[in-house]
Amino acid sequence: MPQFVQVTLAPSNQTIQVPYGADLKEVLHRFGVEFPCGGRGRCGACRIKVIQGVLPLSQACASILSKEEIDAGWRFACRHRAEQDITFELGQREAPVLTEHGAFHVEARDGTAVVIDLGTTTLVAQLLDLQSGHVLAVETALNPQAVHGADLMTRVDYGLRASGREQLTQSIREKLGELIHGLIALAPSTMDPPGSVLLAGNTVMHHLFCGLDLSPLSQPPFESSQLAARQFTARELGWELPYDPEVAFLPCLGGFVGSDILAGILATQMHDSEELIGFVDLGTNGEIAIGNRHGIFCTSTAAGPAFEAGGIEMGMRAATGAIVEVEKDQEKEVLCHVLGGGQAQGVCGSGLVDAVATGLDLGFISPSGRLRNDHRPFHLKDAVSITQHDIRQLQLAKGAIAAGISILLKEANAGPSDLSAFYLAGAFGNYVKSESARRVGLLPFSQEQIQSAGNTSLHGLKTVIFSETRPDFDPVLEKVRHVSLASDGEFQETFIKKTSFPENERLKD
Ligand code: FES
Repeated sequence: MPQFVQVTLAPSNQTIQVPYGADLKEVLHRFGVEFPCGGRGRCGACRIKVIQGVLPLSQACASILSKEEIDAGWRFACRHRAEQDITFELGQREAPVLTEHGAFHVEARDGTAVVIDLGTTTLVAQLLDLQSGHVLAVETALNPQAVHGADLMTRVDYGLRASGREQLTQSIREKLGELIHGLIALAPSTMDPPGSVLLAGNTVMHHLFCGLDLSPLSQPPFESSQLAARQFTARELGWELPYDPEVAFLPCLGGFVGSDILAGILATQMHDSEELIGFVDLGTNGEIAIGNRHGIFCTSTAAGPAFEAGGIEMGMRAATGAIVEVEKDQEKEVLCHVLGGGQAQGVCGSGLVDAVATGLDLGFISPSGRLRNDHRPFHLKDAVSITQHDIRQLQLAKGAIAAGISILLKEANAGPSDLSAFYLAGAFGNYVKSESARRVGLLPFSQEQIQSAGNTSLHGLKTVIFSETRPDFDPVLEKVRHVSLASDGEFQETFIKKTSFPENERLKD
């Protein structure tokens, strides 16, 4: 048995050496591939087409894929391990990007473009073929500004220090320039260099990238007058790119509701929908929108880093050794799924939500969040446990999101059952189990309403970049009303109420 095998992605021929038996889900996650059903073999979004090598047929593939697809080499990456050298294409990058409401319309034209999701924690850049709509290359990185604070307010504080903003602006521009160069290097040599670059991000990221004054975002009411779209040339940003392409940042919607939410509205087609729909981007800063073509309410709420396992004693990102799923078996024993299958080293955000949901079901955790066993940590697996402090962190995070949803529903004069769908965006939203999110009282919606939407920021950017003429955002912006939770008299009371867990599996609004 070889110690390492080679995984090659066609058509870019990116090759990576991985340990024998490596989980393809973990390998491809590094290449920006999304796993909307969390790798449970249900959604088919992680399809890969084997070109060289063999991936034996898994049960999930056999039951969902057609015989023709199986014979053509299609498999679900999330159900396989790399046990020999293998070359494949990523289905996710081939078809025009799908939303839950259908395929994006691609106005075919020559050339390539770059779209960038500028997140507080992570950066994702994709190079797109404007002729086919295919993703030619993906680059991801951590936001280098994170050394100056994980959450937005710490970042803003740093930006208000002497030369702080200049440092933050320069570091993000430099990093994104590197990513674009990386994309160009990965693209097939026959492709043109990008003719344009389009970005979306939250309002603080927008201000920092564009070099704007942060002080309005540092104090109540946290509103800025500089929310408009911004255009630059690559050279103005210090990027030496062929033909000096135009770089544009989508407009923001409010103080802490950025263009990533505008992109999410475009991706879910909320602005065109007759039915009421909603979505939340569950990150350090939870951004929520609920509405339809007649009006959209949006807000943001400081959830803190618990959903990304930040501030959790044995918290870690969803990498090898992380407990990513927790459930109870028939004998009421706790079962944990560890990424990579080895010893558990920590728990990631989705694992934490699962663990608390399981602890509630087993009676180890009370609805108030108290650990019933004399506050002793709730043991999960190997040396990994969750503590009273961890549970409190999750209560604060989920309380903030649940309160934001509750207030937006009220603004929309609607109840949870009035929504035809509620989409979960962002990495955590991709992985968290909807049953667990409901059990801990994070989401008041039914299982059928809750759907993973992947990276809605990138999806929305693609709707813009693939249209022949740059869409007019004004009709969408006119429908949007930003609800400031900071000045909402009911927020504090609702938040405190929502920090508790539901008494039982009957979910409350
Ligand atoms: S089938 Fe693989 S992520 Fe859903």
